[in-house]
Amino acid sequence: MGQYEVTVAAIRVLTPTIRELLLRSKDGSALQSYAPGAHIEIDVETGTRPYSLLGGMPDADDPPDTYRIMVERRPEGTGGSLFLCDKVAVGATLGISAPRNNFALDTHPANRLLIAGGIGIAPIYAMARQLKRLGRPFDLVYVARDADQMAYRDEIAAVSPNPVLFHIETAEAASLDVKPLFKKLVYPSEVYVCGTHGLNKAVVAVASANGLSRLQTHEQCFAPPPVVVLDNAPFEVLLRLTGVELKIPADATILETMLANGITPKFYCGRGECGICPMTVVSADGPLEHRDHVLKPAEKESGKRICICVSRVKGSRLVLDA
Ligand SMILES: Cc1cc2nc3c(=O)[nH]c(=O)nc-3n(C[C@H](O)[C@H](O)[C@H](O)COP(=O)(O)OP(=O)(O)OC[C@H]3O[C@@H](n4cnc5c(N)ncnc54)[C@H](O)[C@@H]3O)c2cc1C
Ligand code: FES
Repeated sequence: MGQYEVTVAAIRVLTPTIRELLLRSKDGSALQSYAPGAHIEIDVETGTRPYSLLGGMPDADDPPDTYRIMVERRPEGTGGSLFLCDKVAVGATLGISAPRNNFALDTHPANRLLIAGGIGIAPIYAMARQLKRLGRPFDLVYVARDADQMAYRDEIAAVSPNPVLFHIETAEAASLDVKPLFKKLVYPSEVYVCGTHGLNKAVVAVASANGLSRLQTHEQCFAPPPVVVLDNAPFEVLLRLTGVELKIPADATILETMLANGITPKFYCGRGECGICPMTVVSADGPLEHRDHVLKPAEKESGKRICICVSRVKGSRLVLDA
């Protein structure tokens, strides 16, 4: 059950496959504030699903009692988007979490390149509005497989200080060549990309080839990464606060082993994306093998936190502050 209950105040059809939902607090009180890139988790029939917060429209922020989200209907999914697009009507009550942000926007003076693939426009739109408010320069690229996947086209054009590059991936205009986009980017530029794994990977590779460090390259992907079979070894985990010792087999994660032993830590996605499960590391007798997509590079290097749903230790023993 979500932390808060909100009412669906309005629903707008943005494209044949994308809906916009306005969510309001039940008593008109302010909802928790958030920064661009944040998402909330919404209770759906099959669990909870994260949705990015849009913040408002080109010239007006939403009032403090309102969250605005956009949802793409995905018939091949496991029901979350179908619930929100087909079953939820105006007046319905939804359970939601407080906002979390794994894709935060830095706002120091710099050139920025924002790249959205399809529904990945949701956090990018919130970022564009914030940069416009602050008077920071940016370029925006919006890629989609077809026009139905391109919501808020006019609004995006209105927010951007420079002409937006809209790219529909038709058979003729196939994939976007991301290399030329980096010509304008010089230190201390930043790039933010939210799209498919393919788009994100291409952008990160070109950013790196153009001298941008991982601290200047920010990515989020709504879909889980492809399953990669890795060479895992077993290790032991001591949960310091409870004194519980666990043996993590090669074919299970720390999270899976905890659950199998009746321990229920906080988690959601189980795939290193939501940022809910990280635990504090007390000690490790080998390097941490970070496989998540949420901890910042500096956090990973510090070795102080680990996403227990996917990451492991390349050693024999890990002590967690749990
Ligand atoms: C941080 C975050 C923010 C998100 N924000 C939004 C948002 O603003 N609007 C929105 O519509 N969705 C968003 N999503 C995706 C959303 O949470 C659901 O996954 C999506 O609505 C599908 O739900 P489902 O229950 O049908 O399928 P799920 O069980 O969630 O996923 C089923 C399958 O669909 C795939 N899938 C889900 N989303 C995508 C995608 N965008 N592209 C490719 N494959 C996908 C998954 O890989 C999975 O195999 C976000 C996800 C994350 C992690
Ligand atoms: S449960 Fe989502 S990052 Fe681990």
